[in-house]
Amino acid sequence: MIDKKLYIQTIGCQMNVYDSRQIESLLGQSGYRRIDTPDRADLIIVNTCAIRDKAEQKLYSLLGRLAPIKHRRPDTILAVGGCVAQQEGTALLSRVPGLDMVFGTHALARVPALVARVASTRARIVDVGMLSPEGEGSSALVDAGHEEISRFVTIMRGCDNFCTYCVVPYVRGRETSRPPDEIITEIRDLVAAGVREVTLLGQNVNSYGNKEGLISFAELLAQVDAIAGLARIRFTTSHPKDLSDALIDAFAGLKKLCPHIHLPVQSGANTVLRRMHRRYTREIYIDRVARLREKCPDIAVTSDIIAGFPGETEADFQMTLDLIETIRFDGLFAFKYSDRPNARARDYPDKVPEAEKSRRLQALFAVQEGITLSKNRALEGTRQIVLVEGVSRHSPAGAVQWTGRAPGNQIVNFSIPGTTAADRQQWVGREVAVGIEKGLLHSLLGNALL
Ligand code: SAH
Ligand code: SF4
Ligand code: F3S
Repeated sequence: MIDKKLYIQTIGCQMNVYDSRQIESLLGQSGYRRIDTPDRADLIIVNTCAIRDKAEQKLYSLLGRLAPIKHRRPDTILAVGGCVAQQEGTALLSRVPGLDMVFGTHALARVPALVARVASTRARIVDVGMLSPEGEGSSALVDAGHEEISRFVTIMRGCDNFCTYCVVPYVRGRETSRPPDEIITEIRDLVAAGVREVTLLGQNVNSYGNKEGLISFAELLAQVDAIAGLARIRFTTSHPKDLSDALIDAFAGLKKLCPHIHLPVQSGANTVLRRMHRRYTREIYIDRVARLREKCPDIAVTSDIIAGFPGETEADFQMTLDLIETIRFDGLFAFKYSDRPNARARDYPDKVPEAEKSRRLQALFAVQEGITLSKNRALEGTRQIVLVEGVSRHSPAGAVQWTGRAPGNQIVNFSIPGTTAADRQQWVGREVAVGIEKGLLHSLLGNALL
C-alpha cells in the first residue's frame, strides 16, 4: 500500500476530537498516515464546529491559511467535515474555490470511499446525508503509538432537546445511543492499548439508552467501572433535567468514577431558562447540586453560561450572578449568545447589544475567577491523587515538572524528586499522591508524596 500523508485539524468539542480519531483510523486502513503540519499533506481535513458564529469563522480563516498550500500543490485533496459541513453542504463548495470535498456528521464511515473517488475522478463531492450505514461506529478505534492515557469515547450521538439557542440538533441529527456491548468492547481495547482514563461523551448522557430501551446511564457506568485495568471514568455532558438519583448515587458507589460533574445551567433566571427551553428551573438546579454534594461531598461542579440571551434583562443577569455565588462552581465556561441558523432564538425579539453581551461576559468571568481562586487555594495542604499524563510544558529550567489531573479535574503540576523527562515511560499513566502547595487560577502546584 502506498503511504500517503494526512493532516487533520479539529475545531470544536470533544465529539469532534473523537470523530477525527475515527476518521484517522479509517483512513489508516487506506494507507494514510497522520502528519502534524499541512505543508506536505496529500489530504487535508478540517473537522468543523458550528456552535457559535466565532467557531464557524475559525474555519474560514483556517481555509484562508491553507489556500497557498493548495495553490502550490494542486493535487492535495482539501476536505471539510463536521458540523459546518453538515450545515452548509454544497454552499461550501461555491464559497471555497479550492475545496474538493464536503462531508457531514453522518458520513464518517464513508470518508475513505469519498476520498478515493475524489482522488481518481477529481470531481468535487458533497455527502451530507443524515443516514449512517449500518454498524457505523462499531469499529474499535484503537491505534497504538499515540501514548495517550486518557481518551474520549462517544456513547451517543445527536440531540433531541432543541434548546432554542442551539444548532446541535440540526447539525448532529436525532439522539441515538450506541449499544453497551459495543462501548464496553471499545473501552476494553483502549485499556489493553494502555489507556487508563476514559471520558464518556454525549450531548446529554443522562438520557443514554432511553429511546432504544437499553440499560440506563447509571447501569452503563457500573459496567465500565468493572473493566479491569481502567483507573478513571469521567463523562460529559449532563443535562440537569435528566439528572437522576441513580446517577447521583453512582458518584458515591463507583470507585473509578471521578468526583466531577459538568452540569451546564446556562442562566440563573427562570424566565430565561423557559425561553431557552431548558425544562428545569433555578430551584431544581440548586436542589440537584445540593443532592450531589450530599452524596459526594468532594464533587467538583462546573458549568456553562450564556451571556445576553435574547430578552435577558439586567435583573435576569443579576439572577445569574447570584446563582454563581450561591452554587460556587469549581469552574465555568461562559459564552456570548450567538444567533445560529435554524435555532428558534434567532427570531426572538429584544436582542442584547454586542457591547452589553461583552460587559456581562466579563462580569461573569470576574465573579467566577474569585471563586475558582479561593477554591483552588482551599486545596493547599490537601493530598490529591493525580493520574500522571506527562511532562509539563512549563517546566522550569533544570527541574522537570510532571502534569496530570486531580480527581476533581483540576490540572496539577508537580515534581517527583530525582526524576527527569527520560523517566516518562515509568511515570505516565500512574496514579501518584501529590501534596498541594499552591492553588492558582488555572492549576495547582505540588510535590509527589512518595
Ligand atoms: N449538550 C450540552 C451543550 C453542548 S454546546 C448541554 O446541553 O449542556 C456547549 C455550550 O455552548 C452550551 O452549554 C452553551 O452554553 C453554549 N452554546 C450553545 N449554543 C450557543 C449559542 N448559540 N450561543 C452561545 N453559546 C452557545
Ligand atoms: Fe444543544 Fe440543548 Fe442539545 Fe445541549 S441539550 S446539545 S444545548 S439542544
Ligand atoms: Fe461544535 Fe458540533 Fe460539537 S457544533 S460543539 S463540534 S457537536
